[in-house]
Amino acid sequence: MDKHFAGLLWRDHFRQSLAEPLQAPVRDRWSDNALAGSLRQFQLGECSEGRHLLEYARCFGARTGDAWLGEAMALFIQEENRHAHWLGEFLKAQGEPLLRKHWMDGLFRWIRKPMGFGLMVSVLVCAEIVAVPYYNAIRRGTDSLWLQAICERLLRDEACHLRFQAANLARVWRGCRLPGILRLLQALFMGATCAAVWWEHSKALSRGGYSFVHFVSICLGLLDDVQCEAAGFLARDAAATNSSPAASVAHVPGSGTSANPL
Ligand SMILES: [Fe+2]
Ligand SMILES: [Fe+2]
Repeated sequence: MDKHFAGLLWRDHFRQSLAEPLQAPVRDRWSDNALAGSLRQFQLGECSEGRHLLEYARCFGARTGDAWLGEAMALFIQEENRHAHWLGEFLKAQGEPLLRKHWMDGLFRWIRKPMGFGLMVSVLVCAEIVAVPYYNAIRRGTDSLWLQAICERLLRDEACHLRFQAANLARVWRGCRLPGILRLLQALFMGATCAAVWWEHSKALSRGGYSFVHFVSICLGLLDDVQCEAAGFLARDAAATNSSPAASVAHVPGSGTSANPL
């Protein structure tokens, strides 16, 4: 499969995933609302329309010969919005009002807006990564079976999102002279993101069994996995291009390393 059809494979993956409903055994209530404030913020974070991301992805895809990237990104955003819907439905059933804005969500959107596809994906990876230990902490910290089922599904989806973003990072690095510098800057941004998320969500993360050091080491480990997977995509593309164009490797959903060090 030609690497220019990677977006097509991801489009098909997201179509299939979006066709699968949430399997929640019951619609129960939690016994206390200690996680409510934190969860409301993450629910808001999943709501983004991603207009700039979509526009950048369409332009980047057209420029690099992958006409499907825009459609794959649109479905990815739809999947994130479905996370917001599931969490929102749960919070409303617990009598918790949904947030309309929050400074951290506003800051992330503001940082990403003027960046272009490469930097936007680099920042987005960090936001995707913190979601993994966070939803794991919520799953462990709640007695609601409904919320546990939502978190399990979100964790499954987010693992694929990390792979999707690794494929996108590889495309970005392909056109970059110094990907090592990008990797380093991304690690620094990851550290800053961890500090900000811990500042706001330490109660929820601690309840789920994370110390600050553990949380940061999980996030940096996941970032390393994503970056290694992106480097692997690049190396395979280069090898395939050098041998035979027909053997070029696509960034296949479900292939590569699975990011699950929890
Ligand atoms: Fe999400
Ligand atoms: Fe995600």
